[in-house]
Amino acid sequence: MNIQYLKKKLSEFPRVKLMWGPTPIVYAENISKDLGINLYIKRDDLTGLALGGNKTRKLEFIMGKAVEQKYDTVITAGALHSNHALQTAAAAKKLGMDAVLVLRGKEENKGNYFMDKIIDADTRVFNVKTSKELRVFMDDIKRELATKGKKPLVIPVGGSDSVGALGYINAAIEINEQLKELNLELDYVVSATSSGGTQAGTTLGYKILAPSTKILNIGVGDPREELLSDVYNLIEETQDMLGIQERLIEKKEVDLNTIDGYGFGGYGTIVREVVDLIRYVAKLEGFYLDPVYTGKAFYGLMDLVRKKVIPQDSNVLFIHTGGLGGLFQYDDVISELLKF
Ligand SMILES: Cc1ncc(COP(=O)(O)O)c(C=O)c1O
Repeated sequence: MNIQYLKKKLSEFPRVKLMWGPTPIVYAENISKDLGINLYIKRDDLTGLALGGNKTRKLEFIMGKAVEQKYDTVITAGALHSNHALQTAAAAKKLGMDAVLVLRGKEENKGNYFMDKIIDADTRVFNVKTSKELRVFMDDIKRELATKGKKPLVIPVGGSDSVGALGYINAAIEINEQLKELNLELDYVVSATSSGGTQAGTTLGYKILAPSTKILNIGVGDPREELLSDVYNLIEETQDMLGIQERLIEKKEVDLNTIDGYGFGGYGTIVREVVDLIRYVAKLEGFYLDPVYTGKAFYGLMDLVRKKVIPQDSNVLFIHTGGLGGLFQYDDVISELLKF
């Protein structure tokens, strides 16, 4: 199996163009000097849809399926300020479909929720603790819309199904081609993981294209066992979709490459260490991380370098998966922590 096989297979799936083109890989010169590694950033925060982020890649395939199968509405779910929900609404509107966002939390008109409102998404907010609990509400809304003659597609939380994972197989191909031009081989690829689709896609893509590169997925406070089984199942389903018979990835490998310890008290908990790090990165390199996903994952990357799990002089690629709306959702907490 090789890049040609993957490219051919991917071309068999319906896809819509939601990105500007390949996102840049940039060398983070100042942080590299500071850490003693060669750090590159894959700027998937610059995908170009709404505020950008990893969901754009998944949605190219998910919405491709929606268009091909003539759905007229998409329903998805997440936390009130879900990056995925905003991206889905933006993709749907651009393609002339309706978007229903099934969200959890307390309504507050800022951050991504504010952006959802600007784009005129149909938002429905429920008082439940986890996004998985929103599934029943999505199913109810699907029935309600079907009785009105609509054809709604339910997209899972985070766009993390096997169709969505194809987006990160495609990202692995894109990165591979960019690295060839840069004449660069990576020792590590690091990114945040939460609903598992990005991890499943990159893990599988890299296993096929560059098996000696280690893929480290930093958890951001979600329950570990659930994440591991979701990722493993997604990898299996995605392999099946790509017609790959041989099992390429063992459960043990998923377990080893899923790194805990940087959730800082749980998903969505905003802490001083991460906010300080967001400032450090912004000051040294001129780009921003978010406090929920990329800030925690980047903290993990730096800590793994400090602990020498990632050795000095390694070539490391950090995938910036977006999430910048989070800075505006938590503006008050961040201002208080940074004392301004
Ligand atoms: C900004 C950002 N980074 C990373 C992730 C994690 O990606 P995944 O849900 O595919 O694990 C998410 C998704 O929730 C996200 O919004």
